[in-house]
Amino acid sequence: MNADVRETLFRQAKEWVLEAGSTIRTKINDPLTIDTKSNPNDLVTTMDKDTEVFFAGKIRETYPEHFILSEEGFGDELSTMDGTIWIIDPIDGTMNFVHQKRNFAISIGIYHDGIGEIGLIYDVMGDVLYSAQRTKGAYKNGQEIPPLKTDIPLKEAILSLNHFWLCENRLVNEKEMQRLVKTVRGTRTYGSAALEFAYTAEGIVDGYLTMSLAPWDIAAGMVILEEVGGVTTTADGKPVNMLSKNSVFTSNPYVQKEILNDFLIKGKK
Ligand code: IPD
Ligand code: CA
Ligand code: CA
Ligand code: CA
Repeated sequence: MNADVRETLFRQAKEWVLEAGSTIRTKINDPLTIDTKSNPNDLVTTMDKDTEVFFAGKIRETYPEHFILSEEGFGDELSTMDGTIWIIDPIDGTMNFVHQKRNFAISIGIYHDGIGEIGLIYDVMGDVLYSAQRTKGAYKNGQEIPPLKTDIPLKEAILSLNHFWLCENRLVNEKEMQRLVKTVRGTRTYGSAALEFAYTAEGIVDGYLTMSLAPWDIAAGMVILEEVGGVTTTADGKPVNMLSKNSVFTSNPYVQKEILNDFLIKGKK
């Protein structure tokens, strides 16, 4: 994508993200209609849907030739990554949104012919915008995020992961998972994949490991992470497919190979 075209698109996307975030903040204490999707813990609210409708309306009006890949059903059915695609999670961390009214984000990745060009992750209640354009660096509220540190021993690393790694269907055997969580300095669970990518980019966690994520959970994060030298693969080290669900391991490259080879691939079930 031409750099000038991308800059214009970036500014427009950023403006819409901030506008959508401001609307959510204004309505944060309004009564919510909460439904469930695939299971009783898979929540969706009117705010998720309204926010997605807001973006889809703006995009279709302004860029009718672009495509939309999004969580709540107002996007397109896509079978290729050709063209310009807005990959949108209107609220990432819906459970946090419902229960905590914080710790959720708007996440938008814009891809062109399969290449991540723009990433925007907006922590709505914290009013913190993580952003990146390919090859132009990553930013937190307009301040450049420095490249990831290259001297983090695994025993001093913090790893973000969730309880699914304790469940029977986990992808790595119990022994290696236990060894991993005991080897690192600590683990964290934030409940928003997008924010966990942003925190990895910021270097406040050193990696994020998850069993199954959709394209809209990771599209923006991958662009931002890449700009600070982070690496994102599946949990068994393969490239992620932006048109399907994937297990995901994103991290500081300094600890990435060790975690991947000595724990995840070694313990793969
Ligand atoms: C979810 C969050 C959560 C992750 C789930 C995602 P949603 O997204 O990112 O942290 O563990 O796998 O589905 O549904 O709140 O947009
Ligand atoms: Ca959801
Ligand atoms: Ca999500
Ligand atoms: Ca969502």
